[in-house]
Amino acid sequence: MSSLEILSNSTSSSNSVTILGVLASGSGSNLEAIANAIAKGQLQAQIAVVIYNESDAFAKQRAEKFGIPAILVNHRDYKSRKDLDRSIIELLNQHNVDLVIMAGWMRIVTQVLIDAFPERILNIHPSLLPSFKGIHAIEQAFTYGVKITGCTVHLLSLEVDSGKILKQAAVPVLANDTLEDLQKRIQVQEHIIYPLAIAEYSQTLAS
Ligand code: GAR
Repeated sequence: MSSLEILSNSTSSSNSVTILGVLASGSGSNLEAIANAIAKGQLQAQIAVVIYNESDAFAKQRAEKFGIPAILVNHRDYKSRKDLDRSIIELLNQHNVDLVIMAGWMRIVTQVLIDAFPERILNIHPSLLPSFKGIHAIEQAFTYGVKITGCTVHLLSLEVDSGKILKQAAVPVLANDTLEDLQKRIQVQEHIIYPLAIAEYSQTLAS
């Protein structure tokens, strides 16, 4: 069975639509993959809002292409991480968000955000956790010389890249790979497993 068939099957038994709020800092390719899965009817969800923290984040353009409201919350405007998180919580609640999707959100979150959405914040990380936590994960794995790496969808916890693992995909490092080659192949897998993990986790929450 293909990943997309699994995705369809995992969502077909429930009619409930999960309201997502997506946090993104950069390109937003995972946001686009999730929006595409929704548009194709493969994921019973709706993205109510995209919150981005860098004014030039391409995620904003991707959100607008899908008609999703995109709101800039510039972390530089806040005195503390907690204040930033309080502002984000207010926006997520205004949009009735059930599940928070961190898609390349490059800010460390506080307990304030986690308490507002307990076990309802998902993150994607470009390594096979628990290996290569933190920033530049693909480069860390590439430089270390591993032969297999990949990506992980997990629940967010206070400790960075350490929450419960929901789904992983393995990606081999090929002999002539450049860092860019590897990055592209990991992203292909991210775009498959993130919508799938959201569908499956939504089912778990609904049951
Ligand atoms: C993704 O590769 C994601 O795994 C990574 O940022 C990229 C965002 O890409 N996240 C982290 O490194 C978090 N620690 P995108 O903006 O194109 O979705």
